[in-house]
Amino acid sequence: MARDGRPFACLTCYDATTARFLARAGVHILLVGDTAAEVILGYSRTIDMPLEVAIALTAAVKRGAPDRMVMADMPFMSYQADEGDAIRNAGRFLTEGLADIVKIEADASHAPLLERMARAGVPICGHVGSRPQLAGLSGGYTGAGRTPREAEQIVADAVALERAGCVMLLMEAVPEDVARRVIEATTVPVIGIGAGDGCHGQVLVLQDLLGMTDSPPRFAEAVADLGRQIEAAGAEWVRRVSERRVTPKGTGTPGNPAGPRSSIRGAGGGEKTTEPHSGGGSVEPGASEAGRVTPIQRKQ
Ligand code: KIV
Repeated sequence: MARDGRPFACLTCYDATTARFLARAGVHILLVGDTAAEVILGYSRTIDMPLEVAIALTAAVKRGAPDRMVMADMPFMSYQADEGDAIRNAGRFLTEGLADIVKIEADASHAPLLERMARAGVPICGHVGSRPQLAGLSGGYTGAGRTPREAEQIVADAVALERAGCVMLLMEAVPEDVARRVIEATTVPVIGIGAGDGCHGQVLVLQDLLGMTDSPPRFAEAVADLGRQIEAAGAEWVRRVSERRVTPKGTGTPGNPAGPRSSIRGAGGGEKTTEPHSGGGSVEPGASEAGRVTPIQRKQ
C-alpha cells in the first residue's frame, strides 16, 4: 500500500471492543501505544506503562481485530537495560501479545540491539523524532528536529534503524521538511504523527481523535466529540436509574426472560461464546431496597 502511494491509517487502540469497531472502519494498523499509561491507566507519563499490562492489552486488541496489523509499543525499561531481556520481551509481545510488529523508541545507538532482534525474527518499527520515553531528559514532551543539527541527526537515525532491520519507521513531532528528508533517505514505510501530510501512514492517539482529551496536542484534530457524548449517556443513565426505568420495554428481566441472550460483548474477536451469562448482570428485583448487583461472568 505504502509502495503504491496510497496512505494508510493507523490509530492507537487498547481494548478488544474498540479494535472491532476500528477494524470495521477500515483502519489499517492498530497501535497499542504506551500512551495507554496515560489514557487508560491515568498516569501522567508514558514511562509508567507496565510491561505485563501492555502485553495483555496487545492481545486484547488482536482478539478484537484478528485481521488487522497490531503494533505493540515496547514500554520504558522493557528494552533499554539489557539486550537479552529486550529480545525476550519483544518475543513475548509476538507470542503472548499476538502482536504482528513491535515499536521501539530508538536512535542510531540502538542499531546493534535492533540487528539482534531482527535476526531473531522480530518485525520492528523504529520510532524516531520526538521520543516521549526521553521526556525526563528533554524537559517534557517536545517537538524534535527544529535545528539543522537535530534534523540531520533524525535523518541519520532513521537510516541507521532501517539498516539495522526495522521494517517500518514512525516519526513523531518533526517539521514537515525533516519528515520529507527521512522519507527520501529511507525505503521502508514511514508513519507520521505531527510530521505533516507527506508520510506513508498517519497515526493519532485515539482519544485525541475522538474528542476525549482535555488538552490535545496542536497537531491532533478531533473528528468527534465522544467525551461529551459519554458524559451525556452517563447522565441519562443516572436519570433512568433514579426514576426506576432501566428495563427496556418487552425485554423482561433475567428472571423473566422475553428473549434469548446470545453472546459476550465481543462479537468480532477470537474468543466468543453462545452461552448465556450465568448470574446475569442485573439488579434482582426485591433483593433489597437498592437491589442486589451480581457481576456479569465473562468467559475467559
Ligand atoms: O504510544 C503511543 O501511542 C505512540 C503514538 C503517540 C505514536 O507512540
